[in-house]
Formats: sequence, structure tokens, C-alpha cells
Amino acid sequence: MCDSCCVAPQDSMYYPYSVGSMGKPKFSLCQKKNSGSPAYRKRVGERNVRRQVRNASLKYDFSPSDVQNCHVAVPLMNVAPDGRYQQISVNGHYFPIKRPVVVSLFDGISAGLVALKSLGIIPDTYYSSEIDEDALRIQRFNFGANIHQLGDVRGLQYETLRNIAPDILFGGSPCSDLSRVNPNRKGIEGEDGSGPLFFEFLRVLLFFKHAAQLSNRGNEFFWFFENTRNLDIETCSAISMYLGCEPMTMCSSMFVPMTRQRYFWTNIPLCKDKVEAMYAERKSSYRGRVLQDYLCGSGRTANIKTLPTFTSNLSNLVKGGMFPVTDDTSGPGHLFYSEIETIFGFPIHYTAGPNTPLHIRKKVLAKTWDVHTIKYILEPLIMRWKC
Ligand SMILES: C[S@@+](CC[C@H](N)C(=O)[O-])C[C@H]1O[C@@H](n2cnc3c(N)ncnc32)[C@H](O)[C@@H]1O
Repeated sequence: MCDSCCVAPQDSMYYPYSVGSMGKPKFSLCQKKNSGSPAYRKRVGERNVRRQVRNASLKYDFSPSDVQNCHVAVPLMNVAPDGRYQQISVNGHYFPIKRPVVVSLFDGISAGLVALKSLGIIPDTYYSSEIDEDALRIQRFNFGANIHQLGDVRGLQYETLRNIAPDILFGGSPCSDLSRVNPNRKGIEGEDGSGPLFFEFLRVLLFFKHAAQLSNRGNEFFWFFENTRNLDIETCSAISMYLGCEPMTMCSSMFVPMTRQRYFWTNIPLCKDKVEAMYAERKSSYRGRVLQDYLCGSGRTANIKTLPTFTSNLSNLVKGGMFPVTDDTSGPGHLFYSEIETIFGFPIHYTAGPNTPLHIRKKVLAKTWDVHTIKYILEPLIMRWKC
């Protein structure tokens, strides 16, 4: 639009809409024919004013032929949530935009849903498979009926899966039997360990992939799988072989002052080289805010710049007898859970209710994803589904 003469209708968003054979516009709000005698300019000026008035009165009501022949400003109304669909209006024509259906396996405290929401992607339905009663209570406390709890992933049979048709699937199966940190790990195929739960993710992924292909939605189904970076080489290669791609390595220190290294396998279009370069640059030295910036109140001093990997064993955070924080009142100690939640990217007190004891908050936070990393992975999907 031309700033000097075009009149922008109020209270709506605009974008220049240019379609069809342009040729000479049927009417232009930006004519440059104001040369010639003063009388000529006056006549042309009056004509332009009349055109502007006429065009302004047409602002919400262009006929298809006008749209074909003109370069005009078309109102693009704000997208309004409407149950299953959001609607977008262009020129009075409404187009429904489907919200994504999301399935999260091994959902824990639903960090994936927190990440989606903070990206502005509001799922139509969010299905969560989880068995830990404490995590389930925290899910219900924060999201109530907005989460459909599916229970044990091993119980997800054909009858349930065929009614879901998700747009996004993600999950990170338990790593305790896969991680090199555990000398007694049973491995990915170890009987009566948690390792084989990976194959539950694979089973569900293949089912949904196949269903998406059968309904011609193969290119519109996105997924990622997460696991610890402490996998041994054989396990990592096996997972890559089953999933059909190599993992990207990411660390929370790419976003916040905390170390948490993870592998991600995905079909979401991310530039792997860029991610790996960012990881290589920042894994050891987070360049932004330091731990001190995340502490509550003035009487607390961080003794380290970056938090080591947060696990259920808090002694991991004590290096050489030094606690991560010194409090003016209580002396050396640990971070508050609200501080840890903020570093992970959750709202403050996310894990607090209903009356969740501190050791349970520690347990669920030790297992969870960090929301910043998940946001980065899901970000390319914003264009499709942002409300
Ligand atoms: C690594 S944690 C994932 C945490 C989650 N991504 C989050 O952000 O909180 C693995 C989760 O798998 C859950 N889990 C273990 N066995 C399961 C099963 N059979 N079905 C569903 N979830 C299970 C555990 O309770 C645990 O919360």
C-alpha cells in the first residue's frame, strides 16, 4: 500500500493481494499522473478523492473480477479459535485451519505440550501415554480435561490407534536400561528391563506413518524420538536403523545455563548442520544468561555459572563440596524447585500441585525434557499450526 494516499480500513490485518493478469489496474490508489497544469492536477486530484471514497466503501466487498484485476488491500481477519477448527477469512471467504492432533508417548509431565503452547500451537487433541501416577496427577493439575490420558503404551492396541490419526507424534522412552551410566543396564532387547519400550514407540510410529500414507497425509505427519546422549554406540545405531535416520545432538546449554545432552531423531525439517554447529559452540559455555539470573530474590548467590545435569541425585550438583547456591539466610544449598522449573522452561510452581511433595517434584523434573529444546525442534511447524 502507498502511505500517502491509500486509506487503510481499521481493525484488521492487511496484506497486498496481487492476483491474475495485472495489466493496467482497473483503479489505482497510487496514480502518478499528477503532472500538468494546476487545473489538470485539481481535476485529477478530485477524481482520485472520488476513487478513494468509492474504494473505501468497497473495502470488504470486492467482487471476484475486482480481485482479478486490481492490486488491493484485502482484509485478513485475525484467526479465531473455534472448537476443532480455527477460521481464517480472506475477502469474506472462510477457510478452516485444522489444529494438530498430538500423541505423546512416555509423556511424563507433558513438557511437549508446554512447548507447543508456548509456540502458539494449540493442539486440537493431546493424547498422553504415561503410567507414573505422580506425573499423571501433575498433568491433570495443569491441563485438566485438555489431556486425554491413554495409560500404558503397551496397552495401545489397534482399536485405539485407528481412531486417532495424529499430525504430530513424539516421545522419549526410559533410558535407565540404555544409558552407559548404568553398568547393569539390560539394553534395548533386555527382558524385564525398560529398554524394549523403544519398540513400543516404533510400533506406534509405524502404525501412524502407514495410516498417514494410506490417507495421503504422509508428508503431513511429523514425529521425533528423544533419548539420552549416553547411549552406547550399538544401541544408538540400532535405534537409527529402526527409525531410518541419524540423531541430532542437542544440549539445554544451547538455550539456558544448564547441561542436558540428548539425542533427537526426527522428520521435522531442521537444519542438522546448523543444530550440530550450535551444539558444538555452546555445549560447554552457554553465552547468554548465567545461573544467577534465574535465582529468586536478592539474598541468593549462584556459586556456578551453569547447572550440571539435573538428576534425582542432588549430590551431582555439589562440586568439590560447593553447593550451587548460597543463601544469605540459610547458607549454602540447592536451587528452589521454582528456580529449577524456570530453567527448564516451565511456569513457576508447575510441579507444585496438588500438594506434590518435594521428593516427587525432584523425581519428575529429573526425568523431564527441557521445554526450550523441544520448542526449538517443533518451531518449524509454527507456520502450519500457529493460532
Ligand atoms: C524419560 S521419561 C520422559 C519424560 C517426559 N518426556 C517429560 O517431559 O516429562 C520416560 C517416561 O516414560 C514413562 N513410562 C515408563 N513406562 C511406560 C509405559 N509402559 N507406558 C507409558 N509410559 C511409560 C515413565 O513413567 C517416564 O515418565
